[in-house]
Amino acid sequence: MNAIIYVFSGTGNTMRICSLYKEEFEKCGVETTIYPVRSDMSDLPDPESFDHVGFAYPIHAFNAPKIMLDLARKIKPVSHKDFFILKSSGEPLKINNVSSLRFVALLKKKGYVLKSEYHYVMPYNMIFRHTDREAFRMWDTAKALCPIEAREVLGGAEHKLPRVFLGRFVAWLFRIEHIAMRINGRFFNVKADKCLHCRKCEKACPVGNIHIDENGKFRFGKNCIMCTRCSFQCPTDAFRIGILNGWRVNGAYPLDAPPDESAPEPKHRHGRYCKKAYARYFSLAEKKTSAFYKENQRSN
Ligand SMILES: Cc1cc2nc3c(=O)[nH]c(=O)nc-3n(C[C@H](O)[C@H](O)[C@H](O)COP(=O)(O)O)c2cc1C
Ligand code: SF4
Ligand code: SF4
Repeated sequence: MNAIIYVFSGTGNTMRICSLYKEEFEKCGVETTIYPVRSDMSDLPDPESFDHVGFAYPIHAFNAPKIMLDLARKIKPVSHKDFFILKSSGEPLKINNVSSLRFVALLKKKGYVLKSEYHYVMPYNMIFRHTDREAFRMWDTAKALCPIEAREVLGGAEHKLPRVFLGRFVAWLFRIEHIAMRINGRFFNVKADKCLHCRKCEKACPVGNIHIDENGKFRFGKNCIMCTRCSFQCPTDAFRIGILNGWRVNGAYPLDAPPDESAPEPKHRHGRYCKKAYARYFSLAEKKTSAFYKENQRSN
């Protein structure tokens, strides 16, 4: 048996989720390919060569990123193929469920049928920075949930996220982001006094939107998909992201380093944001994982 996950990940969160799935799939004897989606899709693997097909992406403005919609338009039509979706996003709000509607509709026209869909909360790469403790808890939760849910996927379980009233309309409205970000991307700039000219941003851009000429001058194209990889990874926080600069998040989260629990919880001005929704997400995840382990102990 084998599987493929076509993944787009701006700053690594969704890729981490996919790595957990790959690890669990392979423990179950399913050889797994992770295909990182870039604008050049000339080497797209054929989904029909795989027993399990998945797509993974971060939620952008309550939608799949434009590059995933492009993938759905390019992928080979099939007579019938079940697929699963893995999504990551910064907040656990139900409205995020609308993010796959367009993507699923495009794939449906090509013969793909949605079997299951899973959503993982991961630290924000935009809007504001979660505290390291919050980020660690999100990743810890994903590490507990993914192996269980990966087995559900392999077992062919149906897992659909609840519908949202006027969901299609909301998703359509927010897809304005795709056009707006192409325009905004032209207004990116770099703080000359901070830039190291390391070209990390230019090399990392998944759509080749950043060009640095021989004199070190930056030029930005009109293909930005606002994945924030350039500004997030910049080693000196020199990158400015146009009108969204105030929402810029720079620097990787130390997800694998357990936070010092004895230190006081750092305060941030968004501490109350979606507090209930995060609490519900963690509580449901804990219920699911403890039920799974109890059941496992009983059957052993
Ligand atoms: C342009 C943009 C829009 C976003 N929109 C949403 C959103 O609508 N809902 C949400 O919960 N998170 C949103 N986020 C946060 C990301 O979905 C989240 O941080 C995700 O885990 C990033 O995954 P990645 O590292 O794989 O790119 C947005 C991030 C960006 C850059
Ligand atoms: S990653 Fe940052 S420091 Fe490096 S070239 Fe780009 S803007 Fe300059
Ligand atoms: S310019 Fe930056 S934000 Fe835009 S697509 Fe490239 S890496 Fe992503």
